[in-house]
Amino acid sequence: MQTVILGAGGMLGRALGREFPEAERFTRAALDITDGVALRGALAPDTRLVLNAAADTRVDAAETDPHHVVVNVVAVGALAALCRKLDATLVHVSTDYVFSGKGIRPYREDDPVDPINAYGRAKLMGERRAFEEGDEVLVLRTSWVFGMGGVNFVDTILKKVESGARDLSVVNDQVARPAYAADVARAIRQLLEKRVTGVVHFANAGEATWHELASEAIAREGHADVRVKAVSTSEFPRPARRPRWSVLDTSLYERITGGAPRSWREALGDYLAERRAAAPARPAP
Ligand SMILES: NC(=O)c1ccc[n+]([C@@H]2O[C@H](COP(=O)([O-])OP(=O)(O)OC[C@H]3O[C@@H](n4cnc5c(N)ncnc54)[C@H](OP(=O)(O)O)[C@@H]3O)[C@@H](O)[C@H]2O)c1
Repeated sequence: MQTVILGAGGMLGRALGREFPEAERFTRAALDITDGVALRGALAPDTRLVLNAAADTRVDAAETDPHHVVVNVVAVGALAALCRKLDATLVHVSTDYVFSGKGIRPYREDDPVDPINAYGRAKLMGERRAFEEGDEVLVLRTSWVFGMGGVNFVDTILKKVESGARDLSVVNDQVARPAYAADVARAIRQLLEKRVTGVVHFANAGEATWHELASEAIAREGHADVRVKAVSTSEFPRPARRPRWSVLDTSLYERITGGAPRSWREALGDYLAERRAAAPARPAP
């Protein structure tokens, strides 16, 4: 029985590699999921579980570069069809950006979807393809992921501070639940242990704005001299619109697993420790 991780070099892919140490891991360099021939060649007939962490996650670029559709939609459909043929379970990962952000309570799995940017629309189409083409499919939606590998907001902010920035402006009118890649990977394993299929939401507990997330990371890293100014989205125009409020309701995950996600602040502490441990040693003063 074989487990395979696709996109194994990204944030979630790396975390899945730790959570499923028995799995065969394919980074993008080893296997491009848009290459159907390579994909069919790579998945052995005894593959029983495919964890797809591969995605084009460049939200702003998606507005103008249609390539993301090949990765986030077309390849997902082909992958799901292949998993059906192999009788393998597919775990696919999706996003809070399938919602418009106009909701008035945390989004449940069956709430109406209405993405407001190209990335969200493609990820939604990817979910649908996975269910249309596949058989045993779990789609895990998560939000605001931070973790080792890949580009993430916390790392971007801290790199600015570490290279000398002392005045930052960060958006404080978008709200979601941040998620630590390691916790997302663990949630996937817990859900698989319960043989769950369909859509399930997971993120760490507690809501945050980008401003709160940045401020917490900077404070925890001891940069007391850094000023983090709260600004509105309109002061920080980006190519892709973002939902103002994309808080995921995780009560289905909690009911299924009997566990509750820990707070994003606690998870952030673990991520920062991991990040510090991986940093090149500084020369002694
Ligand atoms: N990051 C977030 O805030 C967030 C929020 C909600 C949901 N998600 C979802 O979570 C999942 C995991 O993303 P992540 O957060 O771990 O992002 P990530 O760090 O950007 O990881 C994505 C990985 O997929 C790889 N990839 C891209 N195109 C590929 C292809 N054609 N074939 C194989 N691999 C390919 C990337 O490789 P390169 O780096 O070489 O391009 C990268 O290693 C995605 O489905 C994403 O949509 C992420």
